[in-house]
Amino acid sequence: MSGVKTIAVIGAGIMGRGIAHAAALGGYRTILEDLLPGALRKAETEIRANLDKAVELGKVAAPDADSAFRRLEYAGSVEEAAREADLVIEAVPEEMESKIEIFTLLDKICRPTTMLASNTSSLSVTEIASVTYRAKKCVGMHFFNPVHKMKLLEVVRALETDDDTLATAVEVGKRMGKEVVVIKESPGFITSRINAMIGNEAFYMLQEGIASAADIDKALKLGLNHPMGPFELVDLVGLDTRLSILEYLHKSLGEKYRPAPLLVQYVKAGRLGRKSGRGVYEYPEAATKGPDLADGTHAVAKNRQ
Ligand SMILES: NC(=O)c1ccc[n+]([C@@H]2O[C@H](COP(=O)([O-])OP(=O)(O)OC[C@H]3O[C@@H](n4cnc5c(N)ncnc54)[C@H](O)[C@@H]3O)[C@@H](O)[C@H]2O)c1
Repeated sequence: MSGVKTIAVIGAGIMGRGIAHAAALGGYRTILEDLLPGALRKAETEIRANLDKAVELGKVAAPDADSAFRRLEYAGSVEEAAREADLVIEAVPEEMESKIEIFTLLDKICRPTTMLASNTSSLSVTEIASVTYRAKKCVGMHFFNPVHKMKLLEVVRALETDDDTLATAVEVGKRMGKEVVVIKESPGFITSRINAMIGNEAFYMLQEGIASAADIDKALKLGLNHPMGPFELVDLVGLDTRLSILEYLHKSLGEKYRPAPLLVQYVKAGRLGRKSGRGVYEYPEAATKGPDLADGTHAVAKNRQ
């Protein structure tokens, strides 16, 4: 047994709130923190709604959902969230400077035994860990969106990650209900590297006028058996997040990952996907709820031609 009892999650956006949901359901005392108090309030509402939905569908027993909800706490600062944590999972935006800032702070305020994990989709955990005095206790824990539904967890072994830390990350992931794959650090790990390539190619095809977004999505779903089309997926992930991943893969793996100009243009226009009410498709319900409540399960896709 790893001895992890308390997990702090830094960043309560799309991923952070899902990670907090799964951690609380896995039996951990879970403390969620965000720069924006509004994000925490929205996270609390959404986690409650998702737990209720799971009960309604018979996937979680009502008392378990209530216990999970009671295990959740909300903190007003990183210090407050992390000081008692055995494991901190960072889920702030996909920018190296933000990750480094958080890890530098966490290294100062956490107990020496505390493990630090990043939910980065692509960045080097070795580089993030290098700003700490505990690189051995740093690891990648790459969850998938929406976290409360998606089965996979990629556990990423950075250069200095030790065996105990790796084993603990795997054990925690399993307790959170995930199937775990362990991989050696490499840009984009397994999934982001392949998915970014497919999604980028789809944007090149759209920009070249080869087919409509709806038909490209339809082709991948019906012809290749993908559960979602590449545009439906990028709208769920966030176009800004996808662009950051591609920029990093382009820098680290070469020309074949150069972001499609149309994707860059959409991000510049503020078309970030479900969270902003408009990406490749439009989501009027999400736009009226505000960015943090956009959830793949209830926004209605329009503009599919
Ligand atoms: N969106 C996805 O589908 C997906 C999937 C897997 C992994 N990821 C990764 O998860 C991470 C988070 O992505 P997201 O989609 O949840 O982003 P998001 O933009 O939805 O949420 C990020 C949250 O972090 C908060 N934040 C920013 N700086 C902070 C700070 N210094 N301290 C505390 N909170 C801070 C923001 O207010 C926001 O609520 C990224 O590294 C991303 O690559 C995303």
